[in-house]
Amino acid sequence: MIEFKKVFFKYKDEEVLKNINVKIAQGDSVALIGANGSGKSTFLKLLNGMIFPTNGSYYFNNLEISSDKLEQGNFSKKFHKKMGFVFQNSDAQLFCSSVYEEVAFGPRQMGMDEIEVKKRVEDCLNLLNVKNLENKEPYNISGGEKKRVAIASVLALNPEVLVLDEPMSGIDPKGKKFLNNLFIELNKAGKTIICSTHDFEYVNGLFKRVLVFSEDHCLIRDDIYNEVIEDNDFLIKYNIK
Ligand SMILES: Nc1ncnc2c1ncn2[C@@H]1O[C@H](COP(=O)(O)OP(=O)(O)OP(=O)(O)O)[C@@H](O)[C@H]1O
Ligand SMILES: [Mg+2]
Repeated sequence: MIEFKKVFFKYKDEEVLKNINVKIAQGDSVALIGANGSGKSTFLKLLNGMIFPTNGSYYFNNLEISSDKLEQGNFSKKFHKKMGFVFQNSDAQLFCSSVYEEVAFGPRQMGMDEIEVKKRVEDCLNLLNVKNLENKEPYNISGGEKKRVAIASVLALNPEVLVLDEPMSGIDPKGKKFLNNLFIELNKAGKTIICSTHDFEYVNGLFKRVLVFSEDHCLIRDDIYNEVIEDNDFLIKYNIK
């Protein structure tokens, strides 16, 4: 479903992803790990079509994702309906005047009627345990609450692929356990999960596979999650543990 072929990316002069070759099949659950600045968020932004390879190609369902394609409204809508992205920084994601409006935004963009919108918003707010915040301004809620609202707003579109950039950051321990179980259930239901994380203690049973990024911005290991996470020498060598 997802394929990166010889992908390079630079923001300015410096390459922050180098020669990335990856295939991800539907239903997989993939962790992205690596030291700060190694390129995880950049990889996830490429996946979501927020930025584009400076070299190489990215294919989603066999179609190359380019800025030209995403400028076509229809294509962009279809793509973003399938691919949900929870940003690392919730403040960059939340922009509506209330939590309700925030979660309703995506479904409305997709042209759903207000009855369906209301149902989805209420389901997702309840699921993330933030129904009590529905009339608050997203700007004025806590960091962990923002994260929950951002996740609710993405789930409201019922995407096939969930791209999560450190979804556990700022969440309390109980919330982390809850999110871990939620993501496991979503994966069991067939959703593809692609998630960067530094929170190894809280992601038990979630990931089948891991992509490891090095500080010099290469993909250095693509392997079974449990095997890598038990490989202390490797994790220490690459400043991951
Ligand atoms: N908008 C930007 N403009 C210029 N450089 C950037 C930009 N965003 C990120 N970078 C640089 O690109 C590199 C990769 O950053 P990225 O955010 O992908 O790392 P990361 O692996 O997600 O790190 P973290 O674990 O801290 O979230 C870093 O060196 C970073 O300074
Ligand atoms: Mg990051």
